[in-house]
Amino acid sequence: MSPSKTLVADDHLESPAGANKTIPPTYTDSKVHTDRYGLELWEGSFPVIDLEALRGPSRSDTIKKLDHACRHYGFFMLKNHGISETLLNGIMGVAREFFHLPEEERMKLYSPDPTSIIRLAIGFKDDKQDVFVSRESLKFHGHPLEKFVNTWPTNPSSFREIVGEYCVAAKRAEIPLLEAVFEGLGMERESIDQILDKHGQYASLNYYPVCEESNLERTFGLRGHTDPTILTMLLPDEVPGLEVLLNGEYLPVKPMPNALVVNVGDALQGLSNLQYKSLLHRVIVNSETERLSIASYCYPSNDTHMGPPKELINDDHPAIYRDFTYEEFYTTMWKQRRPDATRLDSFKVFAA
Ligand code: OGA
Ligand code: NI
Repeated sequence: MSPSKTLVADDHLESPAGANKTIPPTYTDSKVHTDRYGLELWEGSFPVIDLEALRGPSRSDTIKKLDHACRHYGFFMLKNHGISETLLNGIMGVAREFFHLPEEERMKLYSPDPTSIIRLAIGFKDDKQDVFVSRESLKFHGHPLEKFVNTWPTNPSSFREIVGEYCVAAKRAEIPLLEAVFEGLGMERESIDQILDKHGQYASLNYYPVCEESNLERTFGLRGHTDPTILTMLLPDEVPGLEVLLNGEYLPVKPMPNALVVNVGDALQGLSNLQYKSLLHRVIVNSETERLSIASYCYPSNDTHMGPPKELINDDHPAIYRDFTYEEFYTTMWKQRRPDATRLDSFKVFAA
């Protein structure tokens, strides 16, 4: 499926008499606008990045666009990511099947321990704030596949095959994307390799059940949070719900057919020396339709340095974060239990 196209009858293109009548008509996509950085904006909100354009002559221009997208929006739509439509529909189907299994079958995977190698997390009520967080999610490691695939469920029967195929395809898209993001920041090859050599992939199948009308005001799919990742690549279904806090207001991310939603995570905020920000986002629910999404969280290995590499630091850009590892960050994160990128604050050079 591609976004609906509007054929524009542009009279400036009217062929002069006798000229070649086969001039192609101009197509404009009414859902795509252009911003002041030359970025195409999907539904007027978030930039569209073409992964395929990183190959070939448009590479440096695409890297610039990617830099603008990370710097000014924090979220962007990724098209031409190379994951087939069949596979996108396939994993969505498997996820839906999984969450429609009887509760006792799903609950076999339940664990409250965030360090479990695979776990089902379920909705809960926060008594202090008097809100429900309704998301149910199955979280597991995806890379390297051989190491983890045997820990995955066998019900639905196609789970391992399709989810495995998806994890590999997502990783295949993620690597050139990360390389381009790091290049756009001005990182040297050695720093890029240090991160790419050993990074991991954690996946989450997310299920947001239909919410009763009477509870809508007090229910979130997910409350405002930032992701502790380098990047997160999200495949949403066609039901809206994701919102991003941009310039002081929560802006809906309207699903773009076959595109992935990518966002800057806390680790990239650190590596970029705060040039890129890990933005708060949340999921709202509705009383009519369930919603699903598939997240691929790209995170660094435990010993990866998350402070900015030396080439990003100079007199004009002094280091905001000190040198620290992902393991230090992760340990602090679970201790502090903060939902957002302020968990990086204790790693600032001038920490309060
Ligand atoms: C997440 C997340 C959004 C969504 O998994 O961290 O923000 O739309 N998901 O499911
Ligand atoms: Ni998130």
